[in-house]
Amino acid sequence: MPPELPAGTDPAALEAVACTVARAAGRLVRDERPDDLGVTAKSTRTDVVTEMDQRSQELLLDRLAALRPDDAVLGEEEGGREGTSGVTWVVDPIDGTTNYLYGVPAYAVSVAAVVGDPTVPGHWSPVAGAVLDPERGELYHAHLGGGASLTTAAGTRALRPRPTTDLALALVGTGFGYAADVRRRQARLLVDLLPRVRDIRRHGSAALDLCAVASGRLDGYYETGLNPWDRAAGELVATEAGAVVGGPADEVPTRDLTWAAAPGLAVELSALVRELAARHVGSVGEPR
Ligand code: IPD
Repeated sequence: MPPELPAGTDPAALEAVACTVARAAGRLVRDERPDDLGVTAKSTRTDVVTEMDQRSQELLLDRLAALRPDDAVLGEEEGGREGTSGVTWVVDPIDGTTNYLYGVPAYAVSVAAVVGDPTVPGHWSPVAGAVLDPERGELYHAHLGGGASLTTAAGTRALRPRPTTDLALALVGTGFGYAADVRRRQARLLVDLLPRVRDIRRHGSAALDLCAVASGRLDGYYETGLNPWDRAAGELVATEAGAVVGGPADEVPTRDLTWAAAPGLAVELSALVRELAARHVGSVGEPR
């Protein structure tokens, strides 16, 4: 049973808040990028955080405190807040930090309002969210039951996945974790998957990958080892656009496997990635 929306909560209003705060954080990370990013390592030497991840999260916390003072916040970086409303904001202040570090213009600010407890696997679900690509000026946003949209300087349009039905012609996104042993298993999965699809893309931002399935820039996507902040907003955008999103057993994505697919590919892609993830990757352990 998905957790219930607290009485009086309006998902459309939460979507508007998600858009507002994501835009503010996106302006910060794009326009105030310093020469020295103040990089420090987290779970491994290659899993880094920059000063801008921290500043972006602080800005998100401040703006959410002003707009939604009773809600909790769970962020990728240090800090966060308890709440009383039953709504938790799950935020990734820069999703695609490695791209940001190297100046590759493919990173996002991801902001989702979820119900349930995002620290307990399978006991939460997103009800509104926004994913901002600050470099392209693209804002993907959705709320439960409201469809998914893309807003750019040119206006707002509804998102639709591709009509693809043939897995052999599918362009599939994926990503990799930061721990060497997990990456070795993810690479084994890829060896079996790559000959079965058109090609693979590793863009470096899970949030944007999920939105790419929503918009038709990818036919499908899968990843093992995602954290709630990597996927919460993007999975709602993908689902609301009409894509199918799921995990190892059903339509609930988990840390062990998250996949998203254009509707005509969902059965075939999910069967394959479920089987390969179980065979090669298994459990990826706790969130970092
Ligand atoms: C990472 C990105 C990447 C994915 C990793 C994530 P971060 O998030 O989403 O595409 O492959 O699993 O950890 O660390 O840049 O916020």
